[in-house]
Amino acid sequence: MESLGEFEDFLVNKFTNAGKAIEYIGENVVDLVLTDLVMGKYSGVQILETTLKNHPEAIVILMTGYPTVKTAISVLKKGGYDYLIKPFKLEDLKSTIRRGLEHQRIRRENLELRSQLELMKISEALAGGGKLYPLLTRIVESAVREIEAEAASLVVLDRKAEKYRLRCLSGSEPGKSVEEFLRAEGLKGALSLDRDKAHTIKEEIKIEGKPYKRSYVIYPLISKGQNIGFLNLVSTNRFSYISPGQEHLVSLLASMAASAVESTYMDKNLRKSYLLTIKALANAVEARDVYTAGHTNRVYRLAKSTARKMGWENDQMMELRNGCILHDIGKIGVPDAILNKPGKLTERERKIMQEHPETGARILHRIPFLKPVTPYVLSHHERYDGTGYPHGLAGENIPIEGRLLAVVDTFDAIMTDRPYRPSADAQKALEELIRFKCKQFDPAVVDAFMEAYHEGSLNCRAIYGRSSLKGETKPVQTAPV
Ligand SMILES: [Fe+2]
Repeated sequence: MESLGEFEDFLVNKFTNAGKAIEYIGENVVDLVLTDLVMGKYSGVQILETTLKNHPEAIVILMTGYPTVKTAISVLKKGGYDYLIKPFKLEDLKSTIRRGLEHQRIRRENLELRSQLELMKISEALAGGGKLYPLLTRIVESAVREIEAEAASLVVLDRKAEKYRLRCLSGSEPGKSVEEFLRAEGLKGALSLDRDKAHTIKEEIKIEGKPYKRSYVIYPLISKGQNIGFLNLVSTNRFSYISPGQEHLVSLLASMAASAVESTYMDKNLRKSYLLTIKALANAVEARDVYTAGHTNRVYRLAKSTARKMGWENDQMMELRNGCILHDIGKIGVPDAILNKPGKLTERERKIMQEHPETGARILHRIPFLKPVTPYVLSHHERYDGTGYPHGLAGENIPIEGRLLAVVDTFDAIMTDRPYRPSADAQKALEELIRFKCKQFDPAVVDAFMEAYHEGSLNCRAIYGRSSLKGETKPVQTAPV
């Protein structure tokens, strides 16, 4: 051992009893282990396994005077760094140790780089304005990985309800409330701590008779000087508490989570106020048209049931409401005299009326979050056979949003009084949809609509106060303008 003096930065311990060595390795931090392969009742493989179980980054070098290829392969497969055959020169031993420590240094640097890369990726996702929940989940999972924690949770303030709510949980039972989670992990009363500061609680515990060190770390999420949540971590480790470097990393992750929460909150508020303005415009349009009061709401209810029948995803369903409410927003550019004209429109008037999809698309064009609504606005007067407007698209070239709206918009038009004709009953409206299947309407949408109607999920009685009316027999105009 004296000959290893060049490695003076390391504390070198020598054991003549393998059992004592195993005990030491189980209770102390080790970087490198040099062991014989056969030592009485113990084997070097046991030392190797104990070392790597407790210290995955440690380097283990084995020595033997009775080498076989089988033993060499087995030792290296189990994670041993190298294998020396006795007798060997001291210089060979030193150079193997040097190589091992260099290998360890590079591996640790790689781990550090990996952490930095992960932080960079989270920053990019943050800057790119991705969805909040996946981003928060990634932050929590990173914290668990970097700290080697058992569990981590992210608690976010619900500003409306003025309550903290659990948003993400990793490594523990899901579905628990924050208080339950914190209580379960011994953090009773954490929410009553100073909410603007980080708290680290450390304790010594015993698991199966062996000493462990446990750290509870609570990092506040601060935005504009206000607490908007917490990142909580629980780490149990045999050899060290959470280090200052790891604490720094967690504080970075907590500030990233705070930025993500705050920007989503701001974005949501901005969207809300935009949407309120646009809805006020849509209401203004509806109020001008004496015949279409409540039209957008009825169209939405019909479209929702039909879209469900077609198996639309949640994301599409979220846009559906805005699409239905705003689909005729372009009528704001149509003069009252044309909008409410009781008789037939002249060619010129019809042209003006038919400009409303493009006028509507122009209104929404500059509002990025309303972009998904554009197909409803622009395409709801296209016809399946290509004879519609504004672009004369045909078949599946018409966005599905437009094809869906064409069906429900027409059904509602037939079911309600219009300047140019009175309302008809549901039977008549359904017959019209079938008659114009593949001409005006996408057959798949008509089928889904009929299915929803017949199973009662359209709920026409609730929407129109009747399921059939008047026994109306007059011809109806199928295309609403
Ligand atoms: Fe329209």
